[in-house]
Amino acid sequence: METPKSSTLFSQFYVLLVVFSISCSASSSPVQDNFVLCLNNQSSKIPFYAPNTPLYSTILQSSIKNLRFLSSTTPKPQLIVTPLDDSHVQASVICCRKHGLQLKVRSGGHDYEGLSYTSDVPFIVVDLVNIGSVDVNVEEGSAWVQAGATLGEVYYKIAEKSRTYGFPGGTCHTVGVGGHFSGGGYGTLARKFGLAADNIIDARLVNANGEILDRKSMGEDLFWAIRGGGGGSFGVVVAWKIKLVPVPQTVTVSMVSRFLEQGANALVLKWQSIAHTLPKELFIRVQLCRVDTRMRVTFQTMYLGTTDQLLKEVNQSFPELGLTSSDCAEMSWIQSILSFDDFPKDGALDVLLNRTQTLTRFFKAKSDFVKEPFSETILRGIWKQFYDADEAMQPMMFLSPYGGRLSEIGESEIPFPHRKEYINEVQHLAWWDKEGIEASNKNIDWLRRFYGYMTPYVSQSPRASYINYRDLDLGHSSNGTATYAQASAWGVKYFNNNFEKLVQVKSKFDPDNFFRNEQSIPVNGGEVPIELLNNIGVLHFERGELEVSRSFTDTGNWNYYDALRSEKRGPKLEATHLEKAKELYTKCSARLINPTLVLNHSTSNAYSEGITLLTKNLHLSMMDCKFICSF
Ligand SMILES: Cc1cc2nc3c(=O)[nH]c(=O)nc-3n(C[C@H](O)[C@H](O)[C@H](O)COP(=O)(O)OP(=O)(O)OC[C@H]3O[C@@H](n4cnc5c(N)ncnc54)[C@H](O)[C@@H]3O)c2cc1C
Ligand SMILES: *[C@@H]1O[C@H](CO)[C@@H](O)[C@H](O)[C@H]1NC(C)=O
Ligand SMILES: *[C@@H]1O[C@H](CO)[C@@H](O)[C@H](O)[C@H]1NC(C)=O
Ligand SMILES: *[C@@H]1O[C@H](CO)[C@@H](O)[C@H](O)[C@H]1NC(C)=O
Ligand SMILES: *[C@@H]1O[C@H](CO)[C@@H](O)[C@H](O)[C@H]1NC(C)=O
Ligand SMILES: *[C@@H]1O[C@H](CO)[C@@H](O)[C@H](O)[C@H]1NC(C)=O
Repeated sequence: METPKSSTLFSQFYVLLVVFSISCSASSSPVQDNFVLCLNNQSSKIPFYAPNTPLYSTILQSSIKNLRFLSSTTPKPQLIVTPLDDSHVQASVICCRKHGLQLKVRSGGHDYEGLSYTSDVPFIVVDLVNIGSVDVNVEEGSAWVQAGATLGEVYYKIAEKSRTYGFPGGTCHTVGVGGHFSGGGYGTLARKFGLAADNIIDARLVNANGEILDRKSMGEDLFWAIRGGGGGSFGVVVAWKIKLVPVPQTVTVSMVSRFLEQGANALVLKWQSIAHTLPKELFIRVQLCRVDTRMRVTFQTMYLGTTDQLLKEVNQSFPELGLTSSDCAEMSWIQSILSFDDFPKDGALDVLLNRTQTLTRFFKAKSDFVKEPFSETILRGIWKQFYDADEAMQPMMFLSPYGGRLSEIGESEIPFPHRKEYINEVQHLAWWDKEGIEASNKNIDWLRRFYGYMTPYVSQSPRASYINYRDLDLGHSSNGTATYAQASAWGVKYFNNNFEKLVQVKSKFDPDNFFRNEQSIPVNGGEVPIELLNNIGVLHFERGELEVSRSFTDTGNWNYYDALRSEKRGPKLEATHLEKAKELYTKCSARLINPTLVLNHSTSNAYSEGITLLTKNLHLSMMDCKFICSF
C-alpha cells in the first residue's frame, strides 16, 4: 500500500475477494466459514481478506511498525475485515461474538507489542484503515476524527483549514488515533495543553452488543474509561470528537547535541531540575544515545513563540545550553510537526498523509516515570550500561518533560494517572536491524537488565508505566482472561488508583469480556470480587496511616471522600477495626508489594471477618494471601 488513496484500491477488490474466500472454504475452518456467512448476512459489502488471498499479506503488513511481529512465526488472523463504515464494524462485532472469535481492532498498528494484529488464540483483525475521515469545524474549534485516521492526517487536515489551531498528540505521523487517543497521547504540546486524551469531548463507540453509543448514550463512566484506559478493553471506538487548541502563527524549534566529553552530563543534570518548571510554552525533550562508542545527548525544543522570546527564556532558565539564534528555526505549528518527524520543514505537507512505514526496524521499549532527578553517579551508570552494550546495539533513552498543564489535571480526571508527582517520563529503547532470535534475545535481555538497573531511581509502588509504550514484561494473560489479581500486575502500573474504576466500568459494560487482549482490563469476579455495591471500602496506607481511599455507592458512581468522616454512605470505621486492619497490613506488607486491604462490611459482623486482601503488583491468589497472613 503506497498512499492513503489505496483504501479505494482495497474497496475495488472486495467483491472479488468475498467470492474467492467463500469458494475456497474447503481450506478454511468451519468457524471462519460461519463467520463469513454471518458477515455477508449483515451486509454483502463488507470487505475482508482470508489467508492465501492476494491482498491478505499486503494488508496485514501495511501498518506493522515493529519488525519483531512481521515474522513467519507470528500468529496471523483468520481473516482481516476492513469496514467501510460504522455499520460494518457493528457487523464484525456481532459476528465475532456469535462465533466465539476473538476480535482485535487495529487503527494505526503501532502497538509496541503488536497486540492489534497478533493473538495467542484464533482471532479476526478488524482494520479501520478505510474509516479515517477528519472533519474540522473551525467555527466550533473542534473536529470529528474517525478512528482509522493517522496523526499526520489529523494535523494536516487541521492546518488545511486553520493556521491558528493545532492539536496536542504524538510526534510520529503514522501513529493511529484509535490506539493513541485510547492510551493518552503525549507530544510537544503536552505541557501547554495536556495529552490528546485530555482534549477529547465526544466519541462514537461500538459496544459488545454491536450498538453504537456516543458520549450521551454511553454515559460518563464509559466515556471516562475510553480516554486513556487503553485500546481494546471497552469497545471499538469508531470516531473521536476533539477540541482543537490555539497555536501561535510562529513557533520555534531547535536541536542541540552535546557529547559526554562536551559536558553533556551537566546539561542533563540542569535540565532535570528545570524542565518541568519552565513556562508551559517551552517544551524541551532529551534523548540519550550511543553513537559508535561516543555518548550523546540531544535537546529538542519546541517553543510556542518567536526565537527572540525563546532565547530570552532559555538565557534565563537554562543558559548552560548555550542556545543561539543559529540553533533555532521559526516556523508554523504544522511545520514543527514535520520537523519533529524528521521531514524538512519547508517540504510539502502531504508527506503527513503518506501511511507507508519508514525506518521500520526491530524494537523493544519500556517506560518509567521520575520523581527525583538522577544524580551524576546515576547518569554515569546509565552511560556505562550503554557503553557495555554490544556493538551492534543501539540503546536509547528519551526523557520527556512533565509539569505545566499535565500537572494541573487531576490524577483521576481520565484513566491516565501520571500527573503532578512526576518531573519527567522516561522511555528506554533498544533498536536493531538483524533478524533472528539471537539478535532479538540479546537486545531484549539488555533492555531488561537496564530496566533492572534503573529500578531504584524511578517511581516505585507502583513502578509507573505508560500504556501507549506497551510492555508485556509487566505481565500478561493468555486469551485475555486475566483475573483481577493477575491484571493488577500491569493495571496498577499503567493506571495506578484508576485501575479499580476501570475494572468496575469494564464489568458493567462488557461483563462477558468480549473485548480482551493480553493486557486488557479484566472483569471482576476473579479471586477478589469487588461489586458495585454500597458496602465496600478500599483501604490503603498513606504515610503510615491507614485511610479509606474511596467507597462505592449503590448507583455505581464513584465518590471520593473520606469515609472516616462520612456518616451515611461510607463504612464507618471504629478504632478496633482500624487496629486489626493495620496489624494485617503490617504482616502482609512484609511479603507483598503495596497491598491494599478491601473492607467488606456487608455482614453485620465486625469488619475483621470480612477483611480480604487484594494483592497489587504480585501474582498471588487470595489463597496465597490468606495463607501468608493467616486470616
Ligand atoms: C514510531 C512510534 C512513535 C510513537 N510516538 C508516540 C508519541 O510521540 N507519543 C505517544 O504518546 N505515543 C507514541 N507512540 C505510541 C503510540 O501512541 C501507541 O503505540 C498507540 O497505541 C498506537 O496507536 P495505533 O492506533 O497506531 O495502534 P494499534 O496497534 O492499531 O492499536 C493499539 C491498541 O489499541 C487498540 N485499538 C486500536 N484501535 C482501536 C479503536 N479504534 N478502538 C479501540 N481500541 C483500539 C488495539 O487493539 C491495540 O490494543 C509511538 C509509537 C510508535 C511505534
Ligand atoms: C441471516 O439473517 C436472517 C434474518 O436476519 C436470519 O434469520 C438468519 O438466521 C441469518 N443467517 C445466518 C447464517 O446468520
Ligand atoms: C478464550 O476465552 C473465551 C472466553 O472466556 C472462551 O470462550 C474461549 O474458548 C477461549 N479460547 C481459548 C482458545 O482458550
Ligand atoms: C543573556 O543574559 C545575559 C546576562 O543575564 C545578558 O548579558 C545577555 O545579553 C543575554 N543574552 C540574550 C540573548 O538575551
Ligand atoms: C510515501 O513514503 C514512502 C516511504 O518514504 C515513499 O517511498 C513513497 O514514495 C511515498 N509516497 C508518496 C506518494 O509520496
Ligand atoms: C462480603 O461478605 C459477604 C458475606 O460474608 C459475602 O457474601 C460477599 O461475597 C463479601 N464480599 C466481598 C467483596 O468479599
